[in-house]
Amino acid sequence: MSLLHMQVPIEKSPTKSISQRELKVGIVGYGYWGPKLARNFQELPDVTFAMLADLNVNRLTECQTTYPDVETTQNYHDLLKSDVDAVVVATPVYTHYQLVRKALLAGKHVLVEKPITAHSEEAEELIALAQAHNLILMVGHTFEYNPAVEAVREIVQSGILGNIYYLNSTRVNLGLLQPDINVMWDLGPHDISMIRFILGQDPVKVSARGGVYINTRCNLHEVAYLVMTFADGTMANLRLSWLDPVKQRQLTVVGSKKMLVYDDIADNKIVIYDKGVEIPPYSVTEDEFHASYRHGEEAVYPLNWVEPLKVECSHFLQAIRTRTSPRSNGEAGLKVVKVLEMAQRSLLNGGVELKIEY
Ligand SMILES: NC(=O)c1ccc[n+]([C@@H]2O[C@H](COP(=O)([O-])OP(=O)(O)OC[C@H]3O[C@@H](n4cnc5c(N)ncnc54)[C@H](O)[C@@H]3O)[C@@H](O)[C@H]2O)c1
Repeated sequence: MSLLHMQVPIEKSPTKSISQRELKVGIVGYGYWGPKLARNFQELPDVTFAMLADLNVNRLTECQTTYPDVETTQNYHDLLKSDVDAVVVATPVYTHYQLVRKALLAGKHVLVEKPITAHSEEAEELIALAQAHNLILMVGHTFEYNPAVEAVREIVQSGILGNIYYLNSTRVNLGLLQPDINVMWDLGPHDISMIRFILGQDPVKVSARGGVYINTRCNLHEVAYLVMTFADGTMANLRLSWLDPVKQRQLTVVGSKKMLVYDDIADNKIVIYDKGVEIPPYSVTEDEFHASYRHGEEAVYPLNWVEPLKVECSHFLQAIRTRTSPRSNGEAGLKVVKVLEMAQRSLLNGGVELKIEY
């Protein structure tokens, strides 16, 4: 055992190993998303949601009403000093780095909400810290645990759609304006992580344009259009907005053989369209050039639905028990932040396309 391992005791029970005994989880942040994480950890077997930290005493009271047995505190250090095995960070983005860093230094495994940090250097430091202390660091890229997204990935990777030409992701509604980040940093991590996961590759270039209409004082964009380009030429377009009248959560994937629409709000979430266009292999005159359109059948892809957040929380516990790197590990979180950083630079420079260095 290395010296580092000896400095941070992570096996809490002298009798049962971490793979056998019930795990204890503490949550920091009980605003909008924290209660959803709390419910899922509460519902999963072999884990106890034991403690909550939140600066806002009203949020602690709210939690106690639902979970009378959960210990609550306004002081995050109480959570760090407790015997919880893991800390789940569900606070605003600008707090992630410090809260995760302290948790790792206290020997706790960490599940941190997306995006992992506001700066890539911070994410790099946290990854190194988790590695040095042999702790799990996972990022809440919820869509990577969504059964529909897993199915889209399988469909794309199987080649049923042929060569992928492009993807278009729409994530819009009359959303909650965030006081500290723009729409790209709030909603973008979902689409960037989802598309990376589906394609199994990272974008190499990005450009972004957008608009600030309401929060002009802070110059925080409420609307953003991103274009990511992949090494094989595949293009992914993201439309993100907090200022749209109708909620849409839709991904279109267009391939050379078939096309697909994944609508996260619909009952039939995935529909595969046998549609396409072909042109004659050879034509000399315009009269000879007739594109032929294929309007084949539409097939609903069957899914076994499980709440994605439940799958995510379960994956985190499994990673702790088996000491295996989670799907959305710190490195995946870092890559998403690198895309966002370049997109932010592009957004502030007239939408110029920029190379992403990993
Ligand atoms: N995965 C998803 O689908 C999803 C959805 C929504 C939000 N999120 C993420 O969850 C995180 C929280 O978002 P939210 O919408 O719940 O925010 P929120 O503002 O509604 O809640 C944040 C809570 O954290 C508390 N808090 C802030 N700083 C703290 C600190 N230093 N110590 C203790 N408590 C502190 C606040 O009092 C508040 O109760 C963000 O990272 C966000 O991106 C993820």
